[in-house]
Amino acid sequence: MRWLVLEFSLPTDEAAAGLLVEELVTFSERGVEEKKLDGGNACVVAYFAAPSDSLADPLADPPETFPQEIRARLKEALGTEPTLLSYRWQEQEAWAELWRRGLAPRRVSPRLVVSPTWETPTLDPGQRLISLDPGMAFGTAEHPTTRGALRLLDPRLQIGARVADVGSGSGILSIAAALLGAESVLAVEMDAWSCEVARENVDRNGVSDRVRVLHAEVGPELFPDEPSFDLIAANIESGTLRRLLPGVRRCVREGGWVLLSGILLPEADAMVRFAAGFGLSLDEEDREGEWWTGAFRATALRAT
Ligand SMILES: C[S@@+](CC[C@H](N)C(=O)[O-])C[C@H]1O[C@@H](n2cnc3c(N)ncnc32)[C@H](O)[C@@H]1O
Repeated sequence: MRWLVLEFSLPTDEAAAGLLVEELVTFSERGVEEKKLDGGNACVVAYFAAPSDSLADPLADPPETFPQEIRARLKEALGTEPTLLSYRWQEQEAWAELWRRGLAPRRVSPRLVVSPTWETPTLDPGQRLISLDPGMAFGTAEHPTTRGALRLLDPRLQIGARVADVGSGSGILSIAAALLGAESVLAVEMDAWSCEVARENVDRNGVSDRVRVLHAEVGPELFPDEPSFDLIAANIESGTLRRLLPGVRRCVREGGWVLLSGILLPEADAMVRFAAGFGLSLDEEDREGEWWTGAFRATALRAT
């Protein structure tokens, strides 16, 4: 398995940089990271599964058409074409090795510590350890949107809660919910490989009796046949969140919690107003860098 790695220079304008990262998260599916370049500038690195035009000759150099296609799609989405600094192939093993070198245990919230599997951090009383080997799935606590969701989850998760994790990636939010005392967690993820990674992570953390990983792409109905949830967490870009919100509100019980992450700071006010239209009132917000996460309380739905 190998990946096509594209590096784009990150615009200095924060809003433009945030949009570029958001678009790449949508296109790449496999992962995006920001890194500092020598000289102080920053770039964003995006990983793509082998594009179909390379399949005829798997030993070929990075195909020309694919980066061009991505640039054209980005131009359409952003209005300007971002600067592509480089593209190259990277073997899966090499990627995993890089990731291994870069990660360390992190205390994300008062009760949650996230650690790569090869580390065994010492915990304070009351802390829970999430041990992860995320492969290429999103969700290692290395991204502010994941950390924001974990920070807002920690104080709200009640023992015995019924939880849904929409777009579960590595399974990190589901595992956190189970370790904090959720009785059942439904983790839904449209990417088959991420589901595999999530199932491994769920097993590794000893919560497979409470977390069910479902491979599905959910739509505005969300879970038509499930009883209501006490808490629903969704860390997905804001366009998708908006599309899913009617179902999210229908699937959470009155008085329950909805955590929305994956929202850029400039999008936050509009999201709060949009959510209010579905009976979700903002209780707490979390900001890190250009990212915003909101904890919403589900209020009574008005009869129509
Ligand atoms: C930003 S990642 C979040 C991963 C993890 N929950 C976290 O907080 O780190 C978003 C995930 O949502 C998944 N996703 C996006 N739209 C979806 C949909 N309609 N149904 C199911 N999964 C979806 C993507 O495949 C991706 O793995």
